[in-house]
Amino acid sequence: MPLDNPALSVNHKGMVSYDLIVLGGGPAGYTAAIRAAQLGLNTAIIDKREVLGGTCLNIGCIPSKALLISSDHVHFAKHHASRHGITFEKVSSDLAQIMKRKQEVVRQLTQGLGFLMKKNKITRLTGIGQVVAPSKVILTKNGGEQEELQAKQIILATGSVVSELPNVIIDHQTIVTSDEALSFEQVPEKLVVIGAGAIGLELGSVWARLGSKVTVLEFLPRIAAFYDPDVTQALQEALQGEGLTFHLETQVTNVGIKNGKARVEAFNKVKQKTEFTADKILVAVGRKPYIEGAVAKDLRLKLTDRNRVAIDNHYRTNIPGLYAIGDIINGPMLAHKGEDEGVACVELLAGKAGHVNYDAIPNVIYTNPEVAGVGLTEELAKQKGIAIKLGKFPFAANGRALANDQSFGFAKVLADSKTDKLLGVQIIGSGASELISEAVTILEFGGSAEDLGKIVHAHPTMSEALKEAALATDNRAFSIPPY
Ligand code: NAI
Repeated sequence: MPLDNPALSVNHKGMVSYDLIVLGGGPAGYTAAIRAAQLGLNTAIIDKREVLGGTCLNIGCIPSKALLISSDHVHFAKHHASRHGITFEKVSSDLAQIMKRKQEVVRQLTQGLGFLMKKNKITRLTGIGQVVAPSKVILTKNGGEQEELQAKQIILATGSVVSELPNVIIDHQTIVTSDEALSFEQVPEKLVVIGAGAIGLELGSVWARLGSKVTVLEFLPRIAAFYDPDVTQALQEALQGEGLTFHLETQVTNVGIKNGKARVEAFNKVKQKTEFTADKILVAVGRKPYIEGAVAKDLRLKLTDRNRVAIDNHYRTNIPGLYAIGDIINGPMLAHKGEDEGVACVELLAGKAGHVNYDAIPNVIYTNPEVAGVGLTEELAKQKGIAIKLGKFPFAANGRALANDQSFGFAKVLADSKTDKLLGVQIIGSGASELISEAVTILEFGGSAEDLGKIVHAHPTMSEALKEAALATDNRAFSIPPY
């Protein structure tokens, strides 16, 4: 192969040799590759897709955010603009244009990544990589041709794929995953979403706003169950206002296609068999790690009991020189968690001090209202027996929120009842995805609720709701009456 990076070496067998090969070009993998290049390592990154970015940029975080904003504009024009004195004779949406814009966003970002790889002198290899021995990778190019590569160290960052349900055959036409639900060519008249996690709620919102009758079936007694019940209750009410219908404590047991319509069988709350019909069914019941073929079987890569790659606290697997990061290891399957693991892993393998604070990883659902959280929830704190104090502040008492017509929701702050140390924050409301960063920062620095309450916040801003929620932990918020 041509050596476009003069720092590369070729060993005596003619094998190209790198300091580091990263397998997988998603957020975890490309961030690891860039950090490695910054530290002067000869780095190659392998991905089977023609463009880098993995699930997140190509068929996940980014295209879903593009559809969410377009559909939100449609919803605003139809239902809220008149409150601002804006009237349209007729509001219509052009799905082809919405999809075109989404693809353009994806194209810009994935092209940008290609550019970043070049500028960082990272060798980009397209195909499937398999670790066949410590320090050795076979690259099978998309045309079938194979090449042997050598690397002092290898990072696995092969990501995750959609989990399937037993008895449910995904045909990718009528019974689909998020991959297809990001690219429907027509707005389905009736859409059933199985699973009220981030994917189900975000894509359910998109299609409801564009005109689908969306029914969400969820096994648990509440939606987005990793947030506290007061947050999820508010979210459910808001989404019902956008037209989504929820059936909780409903376990899907079978999905089929009958007379051209998709049909879902489920057991409801009282264990009765119920049926739902739809034009499309979106299965959004989680994701599972993807390591298929990435490591030769005879190397016996060690997995955890939950089928994630087992690692030590330096991201080392049981195979010498092989590391693992991102969705394939323990923890939430989030792009930003993978990115930070990429940086920490590379810093550690380069002999530096890398670290990820797993107690301060924010989680966001980009519905309207957005929901964001970091650290402990009230429910978790109680389960762990931690004595907490709580402060809650509604956006309805925040000047900017009222002026913006975005007064739905609240900020909720949890602090240790003895030490006042900030333990967790949840926010439901417009812009929660951005507002949560302040809480992450305070948490990261081991700050207190008082710290958050004493920091000067610009007025009028939505961020003042977070400050006031922090003050409310000591019953001294300014814009709501004392308890
Ligand atoms: P999830 O695990 O968050 O939610 C799946 C839901 O499906 C759960 O509430 C579960 O109780 C329900 N479920 C499972 N089996 C069921 C059945 N038979 N019948 C009815 N309900 C059933 O998974 P999701 O939403 O698919 O997301 C996958 C991963 O991707 C997650 O780790 C998530 O954090 C990540 N992600 C994050 C996003 C974000 O940060 N905004 C956006 C999209 C995905």
